Amino acid sequence: MRILVTGAAGGIGTLLRPRLARPGRTLRLLDVVAVEPGEGEEAVTADVTDAEAVLAAMRDVDAVLHLGGHSLETAWERILHVNVHGTQVVLDAARKAGVRRVVLASSNHAAGFHPRTAGEAPDDLSARPDTYYGVSKVATESLGSLYHDRFGMDVVALRIGTCETRPPDLRALSTWLSPDDCARLVEASLAATGFHLVWGVSANTRRWWSPDGGRAIGYEPQDDAERYAPELIAAHGEPDLADPAHARLGGSFCVQELGADL
Ligand SMILES: NC(=O)c1ccc[n+]([C@@H]2O[C@H](COP(=O)([O-])OP(=O)(O)OC[C@H]3O[C@@H](n4cnc5c(N)ncnc54)[C@H](O)[C@@H]3O)[C@@H](O)[C@H]2O)c1
Repeated sequence: MRILVTGAAGGIGTLLRPRLARPGRTLRLLDVVAVEPGEGEEAVTADVTDAEAVLAAMRDVDAVLHLGGHSLETAWERILHVNVHGTQVVLDAARKAGVRRVVLASSNHAAGFHPRTAGEAPDDLSARPDTYYGVSKVATESLGSLYHDRFGMDVVALRIGTCETRPPDLRALSTWLSPDDCARLVEASLAATGFHLVWGVSANTRRWWSPDGGRAIGYEPQDDAERYAPELIAAHGEPDLADPAHARLGGSFCVQELGADL
């Protein structure tokens, strides 16, 4: 099996590479930044908006994990070109090459403007982006849905929370996706059929997002950010829900200037 991983030089790509390695599996790592391939890996330096290069990278590929693009807020033109157009280019190249399975990195920021409520938000919580970046993730999900409906491709769009080695802040006690759970989620997504929107989150005690969509594709998270709670709460206190960083699902993205780089 060969998996094309776009944006492989980034944070999640780097965390996933050793975790997705399997005998008989090749990871084809595509990024605008050069990547040094290890055992069981191949590297392609290309831009996801370059249709010809992306189609060439689909050769002998069985599945695509599309992570490449801007992962934070930036100017609308860049978001539109790389995140929206680039995702269309990747999906269309997969279609042309006969690659039936695509896993897309969406984000919680596709629905980040929803206020936090007492219950767990469903995986298909309606689009309510908090930034231009969030708009691009809504478009990512829509493109995935379109390519599933039109061409029967199996597409999972992951509404990823906070995927880092450890929860970086209080909000991440709810939104953390551990690297090991991220790999479990990607493996489940690679085996799923149909179209799915799924929250990308660990089994956090304080999670706000439903586990149902993950369960439906066989994802069973095993990590819980709560073990980091004592030190984060000792440093910052309990989350204040009146604080914009905690009032809405998207946290501080909801109050960030649109189009401004962090
Ligand atoms: N890390 C998180 O917590 C998180 C949360 C929600 C969603 N996501 C999404 O997951 C994906 C991966 O996130 P990450 O944290 O690894 O981001 P990252 O910024 O660390 O990595 C993104 C990678 O994409 C590459 N890239 C940028 N433009 C490109 C282009 N035009 N062509 C090819 N490659 C390009 C970059 O060089 C980089 O290596 C992103 O789509 C991001 O929006 C991540």
